[in-house]
Formats: sequence, C-alpha cells, structure tokens
Amino acid sequence: MVLIFSLIISAISILVGSVNYISINEGYTFNSTCRNSFECRGKLICLEGTCRCSVELIWNGTNCIMRQMAGLQCTSQIECQDDLLCVEGSCSCHETHYLKDKQCIIRKQSSEVCNNTEECLSTLLCHRHTCQCMSSDYWNGTTCRLRREINFPCKNRLQCKETLDCRENSCQCHDTDYWDGVYCVNRKAAGMPCSSQNECQDDFRCLNESCSCQMLEYLNGDKCFRRQMAGMHCTSQIECQDDLLCVEGICLCHETHYLKDKQCIIRKQSNELCSTTEECLSTLVCHRHICQCISSDYWNGTTCKLRREMNFSCKNRLQCRETLDCRENTCQCHDTDYWDGVYCVNRKVDESNFLKYSYMKQIQK
Ligand SMILES: *[C@@H]1O[C@H](CO)[C@@H](O)[C@H](O)[C@H]1NC(C)=O
Ligand SMILES: *[C@@H]1O[C@H](CO)[C@@H](O)[C@H](O)[C@H]1NC(C)=O
Ligand SMILES: *[C@@H]1O[C@H](CO)[C@@H](O)[C@H](O)[C@H]1NC(C)=O
Ligand SMILES: *[C@@H]1O[C@H](CO)[C@@H](O)[C@H](O)[C@H]1NC(C)=O
Ligand SMILES: *[C@@H]1O[C@H](CO)[C@@H](O)[C@H](O)[C@H]1NC(C)=O
Ligand SMILES: *[C@@H]1O[C@H](CO)[C@@H](O)[C@H](O)[C@H]1NC(C)=O
Ligand SMILES: *[C@@H]1O[C@H](CO)[C@@H](O)[C@H](O)[C@H]1NC(C)=O
Repeated sequence: MVLIFSLIISAISILVGSVNYISINEGYTFNSTCRNSFECRGKLICLEGTCRCSVELIWNGTNCIMRQMAGLQCTSQIECQDDLLCVEGSCSCHETHYLKDKQCIIRKQSSEVCNNTEECLSTLLCHRHTCQCMSSDYWNGTTCRLRREINFPCKNRLQCKETLDCRENSCQCHDTDYWDGVYCVNRKAAGMPCSSQNECQDDFRCLNESCSCQMLEYLNGDKCFRRQMAGMHCTSQIECQDDLLCVEGICLCHETHYLKDKQCIIRKQSNELCSTTEECLSTLVCHRHICQCISSDYWNGTTCKLRREMNFSCKNRLQCRETLDCRENTCQCHDTDYWDGVYCVNRKVDESNFLKYSYMKQIQK
C-alpha cells in the first residue's frame, strides 16, 4: 500500500517536473539532489543523485559551459581550460608557458635550444638559438639578474660584470689585468704609459709615467734582469750597472775610474795623493805618494806628454826636456849654459873671472 502510494507520487512528480522543465525551463539547480536528469535545470544532468554538468562542461554559477581554450574570452578562472589562466578577459597560458598550436608549452630555461624569445622563460632572450640572459645579466637559476660590480660578493665568474673574474668570493680583475674604472684591461708591458703601479705587469714599475724596469735592472725581451756589477760577465753595455762599461765580455769601470770595494772610484789627477798607480789617471804613476808623469813627460792638464826638444815651442819650463828652459816660447838652454847636443851644460868659465864680474856688479849698485 505504502509502496504503491509512493510510486504514484513519484510518477506524478516526474510528470510534473518534465512538464515544468519542458514548459518553463525550471528544475533543480547545481548540486541539488535528484533522481533523474529531467529534475535538473538546463544542461544539468543527474549524476550519482546530484544535478551536475556533463564531464566535458563546467558550472560557472549559472550555466554549464565549455571550458575555454587559450585566447578565448573569460570572466573568471574556472571558464578557462585546466592549464590556462583568465588574464585580462582572455584565457592565457601561465607565464611559465607559451601558446603553440592551441597548447601551452613549457618555456625553456637558460641554455636550452630555442627558435624565438617567446619560447624562453621571461627575462631570457633567444640568442643564437639558445635561451640566455642579456650580456649585462646572469642566470641565478630562476631569473636573469644584473651582473655584479667590482668588489661585490660572487660565487662564480658569470655573476660578475663582463671582464671581471670571481676570486675569493669577490668580483675582481684577473691577475694579468687592472681595473681602469669601467673594465678590467691587460696590464702593460715595458715602455707603455702608466699612472699607477698596478697598471704595469708584475716585472715592471711605473716610473716616470711609463712601465719600466727598476733602477738596477735592464729589459731583455719582455723581462727585467739585474744589471751586473764590475767584474761580472756581460754581452752588452746595458747589462752592466750605470757607471760600468762592457769591455771584452766583462763589466768594467770607465778608464777614468778604478775598482775598489765593488765601486768605481774616480782616478786622481797629477799632483794628487795616492798609494798605488792604479789610483792615478792613466799615463800617471804613483811616485812618492803623488800621482805624476814619468820624468821624461809633462802633464798637459789631461795626460802626460813627452817633454819637448831644443828649439821646440813651449809655454813653460816643464814642457821642455830636462835641463832646457822655456824662453821666448821656445825650449832653450839658460844663459849660463850651452847645448852639448844632448843636454844644456854649464858654460866653461874662469871661476876667478866670474867672481870678479859679480863683485863689480855689486859695486856699480
Ligand atoms: C557542490 O557540492 C560540493 C559537495 O558538497 C561542494 O563542495 C561544492 O562547493 C558545491 N558547489 C556549488 C557550486 O555549490
Ligand atoms: C555563465 O555563462 C553564461 C554563458 O556564457 C553567461 O551568460 C553567464 O553570465 C555566466 N555566469 C557567470 C556567473 O559568469
Ligand atoms: C626551430 O624551428 C625549426 C624549423 O621550424 C624546427 O625544426 C625546430 O624543431 C625548432 N626548434 C625548436 C627548439 O623549437
Ligand atoms: C633568483 O633571484 C630571484 C630574484 O631576486 C629570487 O627570487 C630567486 O629566489 C633567485 N633564485 C635562486 C635559485 O637563487
Ligand atoms: C722622464 O721622461 C722624460 C720624457 O720622456 C725624460 O725627458 C726624462 O729624462 C725622464 N726622467 C727619468 C727620471 O727617467
Ligand atoms: C793634452 O793632450 C792630449 C793629447 O794630445 C789632448 O787630447 C788634450 O786636449 C790636451 N789637454 C789639454 C788640456 O790641452
Ligand atoms: C836651434 O836654433 C838655432 C837658431 O835657429 C840654431 O842655430 C841651432 O842649431 C838650433 N839647435 C838645434 C839643436 O836644432
């Protein structure tokens, strides 16, 4: 009895519902309990006892609608297909994806192959068929970031501005470079202009605004070598220290100097005190602790020259051979002498006559 009654009620309600649905498009709304699809409103169907959209459709609050593909209009997220976002009224791929052939394709990371920039994650560019940051940036694993300036901390070279290296966790120039204020540039070799030491290569000093070897060094090829002291081997002048000459393969003092205690000491002129002949200028000898010419010579101010013979011109007695005097700019014997062919010798006078002569002279006075 009860069963029959309820069957009748439901038959009536189906009949009424279907009539209502067909006639005035009413019925249960989304999520309402139902027994069959006729009870549900619009495109809703009765699934597992509730009014729902068919599987390929979605409930937007008032209707069962197709989920939209990329590029089509939307008013909310739910209207777009699963992998799409509703951005500014249209279904779009996530920013990590790009649209190709109506599909959202994942964008490429740094270093992956690409055909255009759209295929690369934002901030990356497609350059030479590779997704990469622009040259002023580095890839931190997620995004492109500005490369760091000199002295900023770093973990690898790519994080540092171009030309910089990452050394001891800080952006620095290479050993072989110096910082010119904008970039690292090669340190300079000998002869190139410089304004500070660090612009010159290790071997060189910035002297007189040019990269040079140090004072006691010389340049050979691209290296500085120590200049040699007196007595050491040499192949050219420049290998010897400043006051030395390279003579027959050995660094020696100039002939106006002699070597003492590894130093070149100026040799002495005529009449200066000495202890050995080596200390005197060449041509002089050290005689009785004085630098002097040998007795057959005279000192002309520079060197010893042979004293002049009888009748040769002269300026003073020393320029004339021994026994000669310089009279009227000519080497001659004294009045009281005569020339015996080799020396001037005393004239032969009667000693008594000579005494008398001088006695008379005194009287005349
Ligand atoms: C439908 O019902 C489910 C389960 O009760 C609930 O989670 C969901 O929010 C409901 N949807 C709407 C649109 O009311
Ligand atoms: C649901 O979609 C229909 C048809 O596109 C539209 O007319 C209606 O305004 C939408 N409802 C909401 C709440 O967005
Ligand atoms: C780039 O374009 C060429 C030609 O259209 C294609 O064969 C290739 O697969 C593309 N490469 C990528 C990474 O999309
Ligand atoms: C890269 O930099 C961005 C922006 O500062 C940051 O949010 C992100 O966590 C960084 N990625 C990694 C892997 O460090
Ligand atoms: C410095 O350079 C100038 C010009 O080249 C030169 O005349 C001068 O002698 C140099 N000075 C030194 C100490 O080398
Ligand atoms: C001394 O003689 C030498 C050799 O003849 C000459 O070169 C030099 O100039 C002379 N010195 C003086 C001061 O006259
Ligand atoms: C020196 O000159 C005088 C006068 O001209 C001359 O008589 C004499 O023979 C000369 N002596 C020598 C050694 O040449």
